[in-house]
Amino acid sequence: MLRIHGVSKRFVSRDKVVTAVEGVDFEIGAGEFVTMVGPSGCGKSTILNIMSGLMPPTEGAVEVDGEAIRGVTRQVGYVTQQPNLMPWRTLLENVVFPLEIAGVGKEERNRRAEELIGLVGLAGFEKSYPHEMSGGMRQRANIVRTMIYEPKVILMDEPFGPLDAQTRLVLQELLLKLWQRTGVTIVFITHDLHEAIGLGDRIVLLSARPGRVARVDKVPLARPRDIFRMHDSDGFRQLYDTLWVELENQVRGQDA
Ligand SMILES: Nc1ncnc2c1ncn2[C@@H]1O[C@H](COP(=O)(O)OP(=O)(O)OP(=O)(O)O)[C@@H](O)[C@H]1O
Ligand SMILES: [Mg+2]
Repeated sequence: MLRIHGVSKRFVSRDKVVTAVEGVDFEIGAGEFVTMVGPSGCGKSTILNIMSGLMPPTEGAVEVDGEAIRGVTRQVGYVTQQPNLMPWRTLLENVVFPLEIAGVGKEERNRRAEELIGLVGLAGFEKSYPHEMSGGMRQRANIVRTMIYEPKVILMDEPFGPLDAQTRLVLQELLLKLWQRTGVTIVFITHDLHEAIGLGDRIVLLSARPGRVARVDKVPLARPRDIFRMHDSDGFRQLYDTLWVELENQVRGQDA
């Protein structure tokens, strides 16, 4: 349902040209959860920017359900690393904002927001402002603000990066629950191999810059997963070790 083919991106600035990604091809099925890992600076955020329609590729194209993405669209939601909530709006007002823009009536948008806020454990904080919430709470709000308008695809760029290890696990579990409930397609970038394996159906590993698809692996773990325990299984450990070596090679600039 999501196709990225032949995508390259070159940035030209003052006196230099940086090829961020080159010849990236992959396809994602409806309802699939794909995670993406790769060395820092290899073009992960650039790929998401292109997939979201924020930035045109230099070459190639992205299609959702056979339709080329040519700009920002409501079919694709984007959860960035920084929550970027509006500080002058309460939690509820932040979450309903996309529906307000879409012209959904007040009663309907509050009902949908309250349901999602409850699902992510933020009931009771509807009237709190972002500065009165913790980092993990703000990131939950960021996620439900994107889910509320029901995009077909949600792109996530290291959304749990700045959080502590326990909060990350809790939010990973929560994200899997939301994904299973809604059937949305997710593309999730992370630096953390544990996270990539724990969440994904498949993992796309990118090479060092210019980013290309170095390999794609299917995660051999059944669903539903116990995010707190699964790193004990053999399947998890084998995949972790294999990908760790490959990542190390990419970071050191060698081909595996
Ligand atoms: N708007 C831009 N203008 C010029 N160069 C850019 C721009 N955006 C990204 N780049 C360059 O493209 C390359 C890839 O950047 P990108 O942010 O996609 O990497 P990344 O894989 O997301 O890195 P990280 O893991 O550190 O977040 C970098 O060399 C960066 O300097
Ligand atoms: Mg990035």
